[in-house]
Amino acid sequence: MRILVLHGPNLELLGTRDPAAYGAQTLAEINAALAALAAELGVELTAEQHAAEEELVAAVAAAPGRYDAILINPACYTHTSAALAAALEAAALPYVEVHLSNPYAREAFRHRSFVAAGALGRVMGFWGDSYLLALRGLVAAVRGRHEL
Ligand code: DQA
Repeated sequence: MRILVLHGPNLELLGTRDPAAYGAQTLAEINAALAALAAELGVELTAEQHAAEEELVAAVAAAPGRYDAILINPACYTHTSAALAAALEAAALPYVEVHLSNPYAREAFRHRSFVAAGALGRVMGFWGDSYLLALRGLVAAVRGRHEL
């Protein structure tokens, strides 16, 4: 099983950016933890970060045939991007929406997610661990199990 992890804009600032909301791990540390968990679960994992909306859309569009599922933290595009939602729908791969923080405990503009409706599941609020929980859930679901 091949998993594509997509990180949206500003996540390269993790580690110093608002640690109360996002935790203290850097993006490199999160990717390293994901790679270790992928090895444990026996899946292939590629992680990419794209700051530009069109690059994120293009990465989703290029995923079918190369990947079996997507784990995505669209960052601020979560709340704005119909284009990203449309790309995910068109790609027709199972995906999990991930957030480090809990957007519902924050400003009202973060309460809307364009990508939520098409997601297999959503994990949020556990800082970097959100990604690890999401990967476990995604792999179990794609393998046809619903037990971590
Ligand atoms: C985020 C939440 C978004 O509201 C915010 O714009 C981000 C990060 C998160 O992971 O908690 O950049 O997606």
